[in-house]
Amino acid sequence: MPSKNMGWRWVETYIWAKPNAVPGKFGPRTKDSFEYVYHFARGNKPFFDLNAIRVPYKADTSEIERRKKDTLGRRSTEAGFGRDRTKTYLLGGADPGNVVAVAQTYNQYRGVAHTAAMPEGLAEFFIKVACPVDGVVVDPFAGGATTVVVGRRLGRQAGGVELHEEFVKEGLRRIAAGLAEDTPGRLVNTMGV
Ligand SMILES: C[S@@+](CC[C@H](N)C(=O)[O-])C[C@H]1O[C@@H](n2cnc3c(N)ncnc32)[C@H](O)[C@@H]1O
Repeated sequence: MPSKNMGWRWVETYIWAKPNAVPGKFGPRTKDSFEYVYHFARGNKPFFDLNAIRVPYKADTSEIERRKKDTLGRRSTEAGFGRDRTKTYLLGGADPGNVVAVAQTYNQYRGVAHTAAMPEGLAEFFIKVACPVDGVVVDPFAGGATTVVVGRRLGRQAGGVELHEEFVKEGLRRIAAGLAEDTPGRLVNTMGV
């Protein structure tokens, strides 16, 4: 875990939800279908581009237009506060929330099988939101270099570190080809707004 003494601070905890998780546990429980993703950053104002990951609103166009004209958007509730929906609807898309639903990719690398490969969509979400264009992306556990390929495709400077030589070779092959051999992720609106 990043250390507070080194200037890292916790920003948010995300859930990576896997709609296609495979069964793997037995007994009185469901299969594992999520993993945690932790966002740590240094400095008081870490880069965060929410606009880069907004998803289409669920509300229909006429409802959005009505809300844009609503001058009384911030309505007080009995609890004493209200959210100004007129402003949020001017932002061009909904905040996707901190549950990131991206299907897991199985048998992802045709060259060398990797049992813990990450789908492109997951890398895409976090690179877009947390790293500026031209910024630096480093995956210290790079595997077959999914993060590196996606980072470079998105205009970031990206590199990685990997222990196993066979994955390094496969990663280099995929970087050279600009390949992640995966269907890019599609973010969906799970927030109902
Ligand atoms: C979960 S996989 C990462 C998969 C990668 N993000 C991808 O999507 O292709 C973790 C990788 O870390 C590598 N690894 C484990 N310990 C390491 C270490 N000390 N230094 C570098 N790589 C390491 C493993 O060989 C494995 O390929």
